[in-house]
Amino acid sequence: MRLIVGISGASGVIISIKLLAKLKELGVETHLIITHGAELTIRHETNFDLFAIRQLADRSYGVDDIDASIASGSFPHDGMIIVPCSMKTVAGIAAGYAENLLLRAADICLKEHRKLIIVPREIPLSRIHLRNLKEIADYGATIVPPMLTFYNVPSTIDDQVNHIVGKILMQFGFPGITPAWDPSAKMSVATVDAD
Ligand SMILES: Cc1cc2nc3c(=O)[nH]c(=O)nc-3n(C[C@H](O)[C@H](O)[C@H](O)COP(=O)(O)O)c2cc1C
Repeated sequence: MRLIVGISGASGVIISIKLLAKLKELGVETHLIITHGAELTIRHETNFDLFAIRQLADRSYGVDDIDASIASGSFPHDGMIIVPCSMKTVAGIAAGYAENLLLRAADICLKEHRKLIIVPREIPLSRIHLRNLKEIADYGATIVPPMLTFYNVPSTIDDQVNHIVGKILMQFGFPGITPAWDPSAKMSVATVDAD
């Protein structure tokens, strides 16, 4: 399997880093695009340097390399994931405004009817954001918001992140990531103080 992974400048870049590591483990060939906005969020939110993140992919491209192979519909692949996806990038996809390599690769997915998984992140969502998300869903993208999940009784942020990574992988037929689950575990007063 060959996938394109786009990282844009929304919060939650750790999800993309974990996803890339997992795809590598699964033997999936990955082609990575990191936007300028994402370079900033990576610096804000993690201790990873760009080089280390790029090393997780089989090939990495500059976001301005609009003549890269993946900018063409003739480049065969099995789909694209944009994680996290900023509202600017959502707007670009909705408008068909392919002004960088990430947007162009997403545009191609829609025109070639290939799988496009969007992991949008903003809070709250304005009507413009919602309209744009609906627009790209109508054109074939799958929207996988990185929602907090509690039914698996997560005990760490890592559990929450792994759950989202699993949900993305499931879109490509891989099993999700289920943390070791203690059926007697419940969200406790350590996380919700009853006093
Ligand atoms: C620390 C930080 C966090 C941000 N978080 C978000 C976010 O969660 N969602 C969003 O839509 N934009 C967010 N932004 C703003 C985007 O990075 C900005 O709109 C950027 O132009 C997006 O461009 P890109 O999609 O090409 O990466 C954030 C910016 C910074 C610096």
